[in-house]
Amino acid sequence: MATDKVSLNVDDKTLDYGVLSGTIGPQVVDIRKLYGQTGLFTYDPGFTSTASCHSALTYIDGDEGILLHRGYPIDQLAEQSSFMEVSYLLLHGELPTAQALEEFSRTITRHTMVHEQLTTFYRGFRRDAHPMAIMCGVVGALSAFYHDSTDINDPVQRTIASHRLIAKIPTIAAMAYKYSVGQPFVSPRNDLSYAGNFLRMTFSVPAEEYVVDPVVEAAMDKIFILHADHEQNASTSTVRLAGSSGANPFACIAAGIACLWGPAHGGANEAALNMLREIGTVDRIPEYIARAKNKDDPFRLMGFGHRVYKNYDPRAKVMQKTANEVLEKLGVTDPIFDVARELERIALSDEYFVSKKLYPNVDFYSGIILSAIGFPTDMFTVLFALARTVGWVAQWNEMISDPEQKIGRPRQLYNGPTERDYVAIGNR
Ligand code: CMC
Repeated sequence: MATDKVSLNVDDKTLDYGVLSGTIGPQVVDIRKLYGQTGLFTYDPGFTSTASCHSALTYIDGDEGILLHRGYPIDQLAEQSSFMEVSYLLLHGELPTAQALEEFSRTITRHTMVHEQLTTFYRGFRRDAHPMAIMCGVVGALSAFYHDSTDINDPVQRTIASHRLIAKIPTIAAMAYKYSVGQPFVSPRNDLSYAGNFLRMTFSVPAEEYVVDPVVEAAMDKIFILHADHEQNASTSTVRLAGSSGANPFACIAAGIACLWGPAHGGANEAALNMLREIGTVDRIPEYIARAKNKDDPFRLMGFGHRVYKNYDPRAKVMQKTANEVLEKLGVTDPIFDVARELERIALSDEYFVSKKLYPNVDFYSGIILSAIGFPTDMFTVLFALARTVGWVAQWNEMISDPEQKIGRPRQLYNGPTERDYVAIGNR
């Protein structure tokens, strides 16, 4: 239904509100004047019906299971492109020429090292700290190390900060892992690919040579592509909200990492694998399906359902295929892969999941791949944050360059006490 205005009757007045159209997707009612004209706010917890910005980066049609970056379908990008190319695409809006890609990759690899003083920062953490806690702290601390790229009004500084974040995040993530296992930090190697360098910084030790497995490298790169951006999700909205106050980009990305940590968002891949391990064998699946359906049990099937996708998450399809490839190449016979496949089969034919349109999401299979590669579960969300950094950075840049950008300031429906007089402590 395409329309150019909607009317609202308030008291005895009829007010018209313009309806804006994007290139695809639902139209949006422009209610910017609503409060000024009527004194009314809208009520939309979780922003399920609210477009908080306009954006040309990523488009999702949740009913059809479509995900496009700058117009390109995610499966084509995952199968044919590389994470560096997708990063360029997200940041610049177009696929790079061979020369532009080469220059961009060179710029990113030149920024992979971190300030030496930053390495001492890690040593303040307990060895058993969750790596996401380290990520929040260290990425936030980048603003204390790179002062010369924190002026958000300078486009050159914004570009440098963007490159620094994309380049340093694998180094920071690998260091978080190395710190937790008590191994020395490994310096980046700029002759390796983005994914290959990250794998080496994570898994190599000084005692022996580390050779990057091309299948694992390709799978890692694909996982990064699949997590690169996802429209105005919770962490991206957090980055935009933090950035709307003029906060520096390092602080904004640290805010995004904090939001991503939650089990309903980036933490779900860790939770999904833990759940698959807890189920353990195929014969126990019905018990867990019954628990997920029980209204009195808070248990949910992790890796199932999505706020936007009411169809198969297109990223989950690529993940499932990649999981097959990696397990086969590494010769891993993990029984939880059988549990995952059977759980998916049962859930997709169960009336509860079918009627609520609960399909596997990106996190359902990613944990299986990451675990086969050798990552401990508490690193899963870190890998998500690593890949999503480019999306956050691109969205942040888009927001800062948007002339319509304002500080984010939602309103509320107040239901606390009305005004009352203070009571002295002795009289309470
Ligand atoms: N298992 C069982 N029931 C579920 C599940 C699930 N995983 N997800 C939703 N439901 C039910 C829910 O109980 C509700 O039932 P009812 O209408 O009877 O109250 C209905 O489906 C709608 O759920 P909702 O919570 O209103 O949906 P939402 O859009 O607010 O939540 C979600 C989306 C992702 C938080 C939720 O599906 C969930 O908790 N899934 C498990 C966690 C997970 O896998 N998260 C990863 C998301 S993908 C990664 C990312 O992009 O961040």
